[in-house]
Amino acid sequence: MPKVIVFGSMNMDLSIDAPRVPAAGETLAGSGFITSAGGKGANQAVAAARLGADVRMLAAVGADAFGDELTAGLREAGVDTVGVRRLGNVSTGTAVILRTSGENRIVLHAGANHALTAADTDADLRRIGEKNDVLVTQGECDPVATELALHVAHELGLYTIFNPAPARPVPDDLWPCVDLVCLNETECQVMCGVLPEDDASCLEAARRLRELGAGTVVITLGASGSFGLGADDRLIRVPAAPTTVVDTTGAGDTFIGALAAGHVRGLSLSESMSLGALAAALAVSRLGAQPSIPTAKEVEALR
Ligand code: RIB
Repeated sequence: MPKVIVFGSMNMDLSIDAPRVPAAGETLAGSGFITSAGGKGANQAVAAARLGADVRMLAAVGADAFGDELTAGLREAGVDTVGVRRLGNVSTGTAVILRTSGENRIVLHAGANHALTAADTDADLRRIGEKNDVLVTQGECDPVATELALHVAHELGLYTIFNPAPARPVPDDLWPCVDLVCLNETECQVMCGVLPEDDASCLEAARRLRELGAGTVVITLGASGSFGLGADDRLIRVPAAPTTVVDTTGAGDTFIGALAAGHVRGLSLSESMSLGALAAALAVSRLGAQPSIPTAKEVEALR
């Protein structure tokens, strides 16, 4: 089975539930404070590993307690962390998360996530990447290194999955290096100018991304499920699985990890999206990002 290589972020999440978003100058009493492993890249790596893939992480943490804990957590989840650099002059990425009525708002300190250079990324990918492996990357690391990762992976014949989160415009020549782009509503609007609100606008957005050069497009729509337009122009609509929302942090990452695991396990796009829907439903029913990500066995028990 080909492997999944995740080039991405590792953050310690400091997360608290609040009755509402406080006004400027106001202090509110919160509850359910947790410190737990997160970061879009690491969450996606853990999801792919728990769903049956052989996963390598390319990332950076600081030489501090958060970095050590996050790296150990990845290893425990079955992710190979040989490509996680421990850097002495920078702190580990941190995300401060405010949870209000099932939604979350995140303020990010990128820290070591922005210290991985394009040169390191190039060398790491050429060392471990093999044709037909999958590269998964997002928007929380240095943009130059992230874009280079997609170019190098494409050149080496890897299948590339790009999750532009947080979203920011990318150079036109990046899109032909993207085999699958997976984005939510707001990310979709930033990347192609179309807010996907229904099937017609999803199709319009997906066609625009395809015209830019992306292969397959998957748009996640929260409680409304997901929409896919395959490289073969096949349209796929998958409903969200029923769940009780406790914490949505990391649900999108779980879905993306499922797309990567599904691809290396030989599932079709629609089967991978269904796997993602079930895994994400389990993830939102639990607290925290990585602690909430289910195993393949838990997902199978839901079917
Ligand atoms: O997607 C959720 C993740 O975004 C959190 O785990 C947090 O670390 C931020 O990166």
